[in-house]
Amino acid sequence: MFKEFEPRALEILAKMSLREKIGQLNQAVMPYDEASMKAFKDRLRRGEVGSIILSTSATAGNDEQKAVVVEMLNDLQRVSVEEGPQGIPLLFGRDVIHGHHTVLPIPLASACSFDPELCREAYRTVALDATSEGTNWTFSPMMDVCRDPRWGRIIEGYGEDPYLAGRMAAATVKGFQGDDLSDPDSMLACAKHYLGYGFSEGGRDYNRTEISDYTVQNVVLAPFREAVKAGVGTVMSSFNDISGEPVTSSKKYLTDILRGQLGFEGFVISDWFSVQQLIRQGIAEEYEDCAHLSINAGLDMDMADEHYSRFLEGDVLAGRVSEETIDRAVLRVICVKLAKGLFEKPYAVSKSVDRKEFVRVAERLAADSMILVKNENNTLPFPKKTSVALTGPYTFERRGLQGGWALDGYLGASTPNMEEAMREIVEGEGGGRLMCTGGRMNDDSNYIFSHSDHIVLALGESYEDTGEARSLSDISLPKAQIEMARKAKMSGKKTVGVIFCGRPVALEEIEPYLDAILIAWHGGTRAAHAAVRTVFGDYTPSGKAAVTFVRRTGHIPLYYGITCSGREVNGYYGEGASNCYTDCPASPLYPFGYGLSYTSFEYSAPTAERDEIELDALKAGEKLRFAVKVKNTGERAGKEVVQLYIRDLKASMMRPLRELKAFKKEELAPGEEREFVFEIGYESLGFYLPDGTYTVEPGRFEIYLGDRSTTTNKVDITVK
Ligand code: NOJ
Repeated sequence: MFKEFEPRALEILAKMSLREKIGQLNQAVMPYDEASMKAFKDRLRRGEVGSIILSTSATAGNDEQKAVVVEMLNDLQRVSVEEGPQGIPLLFGRDVIHGHHTVLPIPLASACSFDPELCREAYRTVALDATSEGTNWTFSPMMDVCRDPRWGRIIEGYGEDPYLAGRMAAATVKGFQGDDLSDPDSMLACAKHYLGYGFSEGGRDYNRTEISDYTVQNVVLAPFREAVKAGVGTVMSSFNDISGEPVTSSKKYLTDILRGQLGFEGFVISDWFSVQQLIRQGIAEEYEDCAHLSINAGLDMDMADEHYSRFLEGDVLAGRVSEETIDRAVLRVICVKLAKGLFEKPYAVSKSVDRKEFVRVAERLAADSMILVKNENNTLPFPKKTSVALTGPYTFERRGLQGGWALDGYLGASTPNMEEAMREIVEGEGGGRLMCTGGRMNDDSNYIFSHSDHIVLALGESYEDTGEARSLSDISLPKAQIEMARKAKMSGKKTVGVIFCGRPVALEEIEPYLDAILIAWHGGTRAAHAAVRTVFGDYTPSGKAAVTFVRRTGHIPLYYGITCSGREVNGYYGEGASNCYTDCPASPLYPFGYGLSYTSFEYSAPTAERDEIELDALKAGEKLRFAVKVKNTGERAGKEVVQLYIRDLKASMMRPLRELKAFKKEELAPGEEREFVFEIGYESLGFYLPDGTYTVEPGRFEIYLGDRSTTTNKVDITVK
């Protein structure tokens, strides 16, 4: 996909000086003041910059950002194209993570929709929105598999499962990059953080990781494989080391695996200042040592720290880096720029975009991402024509709904808060009555509890406790919120807790006080609308947990894809759940794949078209067909996510108790029964050995078809 541009790139390369080549490998920080702008343009004229990052700080997800001004970007592009030595256009990179002016739910929430196609559609709108203002490269999607919800950056990825993360990552890449990357509406995507950042020890950000080759191959790499297959143009290397090897200077990860095994053809950019950070990591002693270690490992572009621009020329002269290595990296960058169509159309044209459509898609995705985890005695949906008490910290909160990494999200009326959404939907449309207080537990709250028929508590965690450098050592809700729920319970009124969060918060303490719990996540621009419409029955919940909900922080890590212990202690699947901890059951509060609906679904026993298959036939492309009948036994239409898991009962390496291998999300009318058929082949029944060889080993497999990871609904097959 990118290599095909090499002949043209080689012609350009032939005319470049060493200094200009190194310039292409340098991503500089956007200057925002007049004084530095003048000097910066001179750098462009000398060909010292290949890309500009539109960021003002390293932890851009948490800090105030300067807006993108299209005229300013076009002006810089003009200098580069018309006055730069070879007229090579610039890439403008920005953290357009889960939305631009219209903000989608955080990626972890989107994964809970189990709807990659909807996700693709939604990210297409983000590309239209952002490119119309001049950003042509986004540092998204983030696809770090994460099994530690203390880590603040869990919000940016797709949860704990490699297969689901891969499906969502590929869909997001396709949404950003569109059908034709050279289209000015398409946005170059960046698969990050390569590799293993989600395994930061203790959930502490930027920390070391300890990951075996076996886990790298089967878990951590999986979404990157899919992103590469989907044609992602760039990859960002991660800050962390893997078992003592910083990724920034790792030939193993950046070249042997990424290019050799995955076949990636685009270019790799470092993370912010991570080239220089090799000193802190104890791999380099002096500034002079960082650049050559990184480029020789296969890191093509240096983000922000200007180490390539300062040191690579000297490295080439001293023989530490060959000019061939520089040429290879430059070729990759130019090929991506050619594929992006920047040589033909370097300038952004500001267009009017259909913001109403963006908002509609954002609301659909927000609604489909929400998970109903508790609904005792069909508490929900509430009738609209009723009197409702609304309180809790998210009653008037607006910014928090968008979540972390929303640099350009429109606030004000564009992001209605819970109070506004309730007035519109309950009072305006439903003829009900709303009473609300500001979220503190005081006499007002007790008053509105006793003078209403239903209670909505808008609870959750601050978006400022999520994102980069924002980890938590305790992921339960604040005590004041638990107290609020207890008071609501004492009022005897039906109470729903709508939880706006970035991670799967630990709900053990609050759960008994709530009749119903809707996990609304940091759901973006339309979070409040989608939540209120769900609570009052306009939408039927269909989200499923993309990550395990632990009972309490001390349970971490807890995830469904575990191998079987030699003793009965894992607890996830109910085995020995009380043998493990003496102070609490070891099972999750809500397992991976779990989520309720306002209707109910009944599953038949699954069937296999045949119960054995020859390994050679599988290798030759034959598939196994499995079917399960699902019936909507309730009185409402509802979407169900039918999930297929496998268990490889005996192999040369221990395999997980369940592995998600396929899913389908479809709507069923009341009373409707539908057969869901899945075809499973060679690519689903095997695993990677630590050296990266893929293998399917003969033997028995269990195939589970159900509504969550802990389903026991299975059929057995044998690979001979
Ligand atoms: C550091 C973050 O780790 C990365 O995800 C982000 O894209 C860069 N900063 C640029 O802001």
